[in-house]
Amino acid sequence: MELGYKIRENWNIDFEKIKFLNHGSFGATPIPILNKMHEIELLVEKEPVHFFMDIYPEMLEKNIRDLAGFLNTEYENLVLTDNATTGVNIILNNVIPTLAKNQVIFYTNHIYPAVRNTINHLIEKHEINSKEIIINYPNITKTGILESIEKALSFQSGILVIDHISSPTSVVFPIKEIIEICKKNNIRIIVDGAHAPGVLELQLKKLGADWYVGNCHKWMYSGKGTAFIHTSPENFEKMHPNTISNDYGYGYRKEFDWVGTRNPSSWLTLSDTIEFYNNIGFEQINNYNNNLLKYTVDTYFKEIKIPNEINLSNYSWLISLPFPYFADFSKDANVKLRNYFYNEYGIEIMFVIFEGKIWIRFAAQIYNTIAESEYLISKVKDFLIRNNLI
Ligand SMILES: Cc1ncc(COP(=O)(O)O)c(C=O)c1O
Repeated sequence: MELGYKIRENWNIDFEKIKFLNHGSFGATPIPILNKMHEIELLVEKEPVHFFMDIYPEMLEKNIRDLAGFLNTEYENLVLTDNATTGVNIILNNVIPTLAKNQVIFYTNHIYPAVRNTINHLIEKHEINSKEIIINYPNITKTGILESIEKALSFQSGILVIDHISSPTSVVFPIKEIIEICKKNNIRIIVDGAHAPGVLELQLKKLGADWYVGNCHKWMYSGKGTAFIHTSPENFEKMHPNTISNDYGYGYRKEFDWVGTRNPSSWLTLSDTIEFYNNIGFEQINNYNNNLLKYTVDTYFKEIKIPNEINLSNYSWLISLPFPYFADFSKDANVKLRNYFYNEYGIEIMFVIFEGKIWIRFAAQIYNTIAESEYLISKVKDFLIRNNLI
């Protein structure tokens, strides 16, 4: 299948109007999946009671079984939820109240802001301590990450919450080795893999994290509101959804499978989503996106003459590049920059503030092209020259 311009017919994105370079924030669901979702909605409304009582359970099981196959794990470990934020909230809501006062919640400075808020809210409520592990960016190495984490966790007790692919910095963390460090130190681990499914070939069973949360609606192309929680069996008993419903007391699987009436169309089209993804194939998507990422990074540093400390082996499909903009350090400078690029140049791109600096986060997706990257870079250059920054 030809990627780039040709594959665009599968998306409803207004490619005429915008250069859409931010697949990372909310994903973008292909039209064939949207059509399948609508088919499910029509099926539900044909006979709503019959659907939820007689059809839904079996359909849900099939879709979760297919997702388990895609993630290389067991159906029994896997439940669905609406998004990664909710998934991490559910786990922390269940686990933090069980901690002893000497136990600590560890996380890194690359954590997603909503998850940081969740931790802060719960540790205050339950009088538990937390500790932030600092991992410098962009001069980052696998060894450096592992050393910082090992140093922080040695002789400690508690839980590490860590991103698989971080939101502000886009770094792919060496999660297998981090899990090994946790096991060695008797620290439990929650992996926030919001960006990972689709980008990385996950082997969740082998990985063996205590909990792993992932979004299907970002890089797997599913409908919105589709994420999963993967729990190791020894933690099943602790886990309840945030919404306690009819099947309370019937165990992990049943409690999560029914959390009240909701539109099931995105969950029940996971099998179609996986088929869509597999028809293009991981290898082809991965090569296209990483080649586009490399081209964009090389061209960026060639045109914007600032020091290049980026090591591409730390990234996949997503990257946060230095943006030397010092004119505005207000809390929402990144939002103002996004608005400016959107309104003035017709580019949808994310800016982030991380450790007091501004970064431009570029997402490569199979409908993006080299021409779009070149356009972006020409406008970045334009903007920086006009503001006397380069
Ligand atoms: C690491 C991380 N966690 C959680 C989220 C939140 O995802 P969602 O909006 O689907 O809850 C994101 C979103 O980008 C993220 O990057």
